[in-house]
Amino acid sequence: MPMEKYQFMSNVWRDGIFDNKVVFCTGGAGTICSAQVRAMVALGANACIIGRNVEKTENMAKDIATARPGARVLGIGAIDVRKPELLQGAADRCARELGSLDFVIAGAAGNFLATIDQISPNAMKSVIDIDVLGSYNTVKATLPYLKESAGRYRTDGTTLPVNGTGGRIIFVSATLHYTGTPMQSHVSVAKAGVDAMAMSVAIEQGPRGITSNIIAPGPIAETEGMARLSKSDAKSKVAKAVPSGRFGAVKEIADATVYLFSDAGNFVNGETLVVDGGAWHTAGFAGGFEYPDFMLSGESVTGVKGGKKSKL
Ligand code: COA
Repeated sequence: MPMEKYQFMSNVWRDGIFDNKVVFCTGGAGTICSAQVRAMVALGANACIIGRNVEKTENMAKDIATARPGARVLGIGAIDVRKPELLQGAADRCARELGSLDFVIAGAAGNFLATIDQISPNAMKSVIDIDVLGSYNTVKATLPYLKESAGRYRTDGTTLPVNGTGGRIIFVSATLHYTGTPMQSHVSVAKAGVDAMAMSVAIEQGPRGITSNIIAPGPIAETEGMARLSKSDAKSKVAKAVPSGRFGAVKEIADATVYLFSDAGNFVNGETLVVDGGAWHTAGFAGGFEYPDFMLSGESVTGVKGGKKSKL
């Protein structure tokens, strides 16, 4: 659904700061990533979003394109980030059709709630493959383009940036692993890996002008993540544990994205930008499942989206 600007980014950014630039985003049909891309598109960029579901991805691309008259947004579906050759094809197509690939958002992720004894080897592997290997595959497929862009738009931070920025990557991570989170061992392991990778990319590719940073969203309202990770009737209790007293909005993640990709974020590299209203400081989030009673009960998780399907 087309959105009003105030719904997906704040009013502080200047139109045109991403003119003639292209953003490539995995998981781009999701609630958070689509807001990130929508903000970039509203501010001048063209975009390519990648997803597994063809219809959802294509429809979201059309929807994001409404953010700016003349915007070009490609929605490339049927791409699983676990398949490097598919991702490479998508990155090449994006650069070929849109002219370049200046910014990357590694956003595709997998999640569900389950204790470690309820997670099968295949379930653990699936999440690690999507998050860690998927992010690696994204870096691998896009790095040549990012190097080119970083070279073209290099800045020393003091001269007037005539043509803007380029050669930047953001990994969308989480805060779960900072303190440990029940029923999230698989994702905690995976996101710790993603964070480590982002740092290595910053250190190795920074000398080429590339920046590599992490955005770690906290509980963001109306997202797939919250639907999967928290019972709907536990919302007010969960929100109370956030120092800012509420859930975040997708625009708050989009704003962080614009900051890191824009001229305002030139000297930020290898950093994690936590956007969570202070939530991780009060950790212990268990999605409305009583701690430790629910863990001790041995029951399966019910009442959230993405529950385990019966194979019968
Ligand atoms: N609890 C425990 N295990 C679960 C589960 C749950 N709620 N949901 C899925 N699994 C298990 C499956 O049973 C399977 O393991 P098995 O073969 O040993 O039975 C394994 O996870 C893989 O599931 P499958 O559905 O075949 O894989 P997939 O690759 O299509 O899905 C997931 C990957 C599991 C991560 C799925 O949740 C997903 O597609 N998520 C994408 C969207 C998403 O999570 N977004 C959240 C962003 S915060």
